[in-house]
Amino acid sequence: MADASSRPLHVVILAAGQGTRMRSDLPKVLHPLAGRPLLRHVVDTALGLGPAAVHVVHGHGGDRVRSALADVPVTWVEQGEQLGTGHAVQQALPAIPDDASVLVLYGDVPLVRAETMTNLVAAAADGAAVLTTELADPGGYGRVIRDADGSVARIVEDKDATPDERAVRETNTGLMAAPAGRLRGWLARCGNDNVQGEYYLTDVVALARSDGEAVHAAVAADPEEVAGVNDRVQLQTAERAYQYRQAQELMRAGLGLVDAGRFDLRGSLAFGRDCSIDVGVVLEGRVVLGDGVSIGPYSVLRDTVVEDGATVDSHTIAEQAHIGAGAQVGPYARLRPGTELRAGARVGNFVETKKAVIGPGSKVNHLSYIGDAELGRDVNVGAGTITCNYDGSEKHRTVIEDGAFIGSDSQLVAPVRVGAGAFLGAGTTLTRDTEPESLTVTRAPQRSVPGWARRRRE
Ligand code: UD1
Ligand code: CA
Repeated sequence: MADASSRPLHVVILAAGQGTRMRSDLPKVLHPLAGRPLLRHVVDTALGLGPAAVHVVHGHGGDRVRSALADVPVTWVEQGEQLGTGHAVQQALPAIPDDASVLVLYGDVPLVRAETMTNLVAAAADGAAVLTTELADPGGYGRVIRDADGSVARIVEDKDATPDERAVRETNTGLMAAPAGRLRGWLARCGNDNVQGEYYLTDVVALARSDGEAVHAAVAADPEEVAGVNDRVQLQTAERAYQYRQAQELMRAGLGLVDAGRFDLRGSLAFGRDCSIDVGVVLEGRVVLGDGVSIGPYSVLRDTVVEDGATVDSHTIAEQAHIGAGAQVGPYARLRPGTELRAGARVGNFVETKKAVIGPGSKVNHLSYIGDAELGRDVNVGAGTITCNYDGSEKHRTVIEDGAFIGSDSQLVAPVRVGAGAFLGAGTTLTRDTEPESLTVTRAPQRSVPGWARRRRE
């Protein structure tokens, strides 16, 4: 008998269900888990097994599902009417050769590990194999009915089960593996004479046994791994389980996390040595941290690079930003796309930057907007400074050369350039370029009238 590993592996992912209990316009399998659609988790893990093909059976919301996963190499199979899990698998079989191993996965069971899938396929070398798990509360699931000798006899759906069968705590996770040729024969013999009037994939088990074939059960030790997502409560549970699993892997790889239960990575994270991340941090897209980076509480970093020794203080939001070595950001900073902080630069509270280069050692510490701007080295931008980059129709650039000093509450009306080492007095509205080393003051001269207030009272 052929060894399972020598057969081509064809993965069939069932994803045709409506997901009514999500009470959502979005197809259930597109709801995000850690920023990726549920179905994508399953597809990505399946592709990691190096299969000959991955077939996704879709129905409801098929176009949206397909376009959301347009970049992954899978075969799409439409199940026009949802007549049951057995019927769903049947739709994929015409594209699968008899000598293949078939692994059936569910698009709404996202946390299954690659190792568990591989074990299940191996267990189906000489017959069918089902993945089961013991649940304290097995209500709603198919129950695994074993013979006196312990072998799996059949699976009975909750709705079809007798009270005795309902008391069984070993449940069917739904994941199954079998040789394609035999699976084809069994499914052709499945009827729909049951309470739900559906073609059950689970009936394959009893049919295999009646053919004298072995049916193996691989037991998933961790019920969390095989938990399905049917409603938003289960989605949240799966999210936390996924985040916790991921956080533990990151900590084992050396990442310092203050609280694994208050950390969310929705994408990928690369990091150096001795990085520390405080509570409530959300990382999205592709985030890269160098050595010795520290991220303060409740910060959000999206597609951002933070170099060695930089500090991002609490409540900072950065998107498509590059934070240079030793830079200090926040608290309460907002770095929008195209922000580049060079080594040792500082951006403080209530500062918004966009398409802005802040040169080495330069400081924008308080309450400013710096957009479409290039600051040289050791520039000091006072509180409340605004680059007026937009004239109502076009964006213009501001350049501030090395060592310039921008007094507080200045507006730089772009396009405009401040020469190296130049000073702007507080409250300057700059509309023309300034010479290097110059002083510019645009505010009205101060006039004080002695005794005015006393005379007014009298
Ligand atoms: C199924 C199993 C049950 C198991 C449970 C685990 C059967 C008959 N029952 O029950 O033993 O304990 O999963 O969660 O297999 N789907 C389709 N097309 C269909 C029907 C379903 O693609 O025609 C997909 C759904 O989108 C879903 C998966 O198959 O991803 C399971 O379907 P669902 O209706 O949730 O099966 P259960 O009744 O929960
Ligand atoms: Ca289900």
